[in-house]
Amino acid sequence: THMALLRKVNQALLFLLIVAVCGILYKKARRAAVSSSEADEGSEPPEDVDEEIPVVICAAAGRMGATMAAINSIYSNTDANIVFYVVGLRNTLSRIRKWIEHSKLREINFKIVEFNPTVLEGKIRPDSPRPELLQPLNFVRFYLPLLIHRHEKVIYLDDDVIVQGDIQELYDTTLSLGHAAAFSGDCDLPAAQDFSRLVGLQNTYMGFLDYRKKAIKDLGISPSTCSFNPGVMVANMTEWRQQRITKQLEKWMQRNVEENLYSSSLGGGVATSPMLIVFHGRHSTINPLWHIRHLGWSPDARYPGRFLQEAKLLHWDGQHKPWRSPGAHTGLWESWFVPDPAGIFKLSHDS
Ligand SMILES: *[C@@H]1O[C@H](CO)[C@@H](O)[C@H](O)[C@H]1NC(C)=O
Repeated sequence: THMALLRKVNQALLFLLIVAVCGILYKKARRAAVSSSEADEGSEPPEDVDEEIPVVICAAAGRMGATMAAINSIYSNTDANIVFYVVGLRNTLSRIRKWIEHSKLREINFKIVEFNPTVLEGKIRPDSPRPELLQPLNFVRFYLPLLIHRHEKVIYLDDDVIVQGDIQELYDTTLSLGHAAAFSGDCDLPAAQDFSRLVGLQNTYMGFLDYRKKAIKDLGISPSTCSFNPGVMVANMTEWRQQRITKQLEKWMQRNVEENLYSSSLGGGVATSPMLIVFHGRHSTINPLWHIRHLGWSPDARYPGRFLQEAKLLHWDGQHKPWRSPGAHTGLWESWFVPDPAGIFKLSHDS
């Protein structure tokens, strides 16, 4: 009859429901067993956990506000699983921790790393035309494999940057086999080149190395070779170690102390010259939109607004820092500022 049919349908549905529940329970149990056996073996985490992206950035005593703004911009513009390695000198480490833990940055995943500047003894000339560039932390990028052990691929950023894109994109930069690092070249983008010309910047090796010196001529690198800026770098620690990049950089630092090899105009600072030598012809390239630079070279020279909107990363290299003096595109920087919970670091117009 009608009722009997309905009862049969009900029984069938109940049966299906039980099968489905059993299936789900079975899957759950199996997943639990799999993950616990993986944990036992201490093997790789399961694939659906996002890979950690290590970002190395320095925090110098007088400009920690720059570091925090950069971190804020990176963290706010990505869903990626980032671990920040914030590098400082011993006497600033507690202040770095406090700034992060007592501000909106408290949610970030971070490690504080101490850089011991004694490794630099005898490797830096004290007579630089821009003494501020002799800050020991400028050389942290030379020593990445000594500071970072858990990761093969690493991002290094200068503190005076703001990231507007998703940092995952930068991390996905392909490094060619045999290349320990990727940089963005100083001649890659016409708009950036016009800008360099406007503020009178060198964008060739001649701007960084003294071609009257024999050691430089002997390198056989044309002085008109386009330079690159090492303030944004994606690096492979395995290659770096295999090629002993740190040792090579130290060798050129030492030779510079003895023979004064860098150009006196020093477009981009003392850390750039040895990198130009060591990585000449053996580095990969970063998408130029991931390194729009020179924003700190002149308080008046400005990029077109539309161009800046497309930029993934802005770099205020040069002497006009956006936290010190009102200058080019300061507003873009200030929107990422994280106030100092200790009240020490202040924006110039607030003090
Ligand atoms: C890093 O370099 C090593 C050695 O050449 C290579 O095996 C590895 O695939 C590279 N990793 C990345 C992420 O490029």
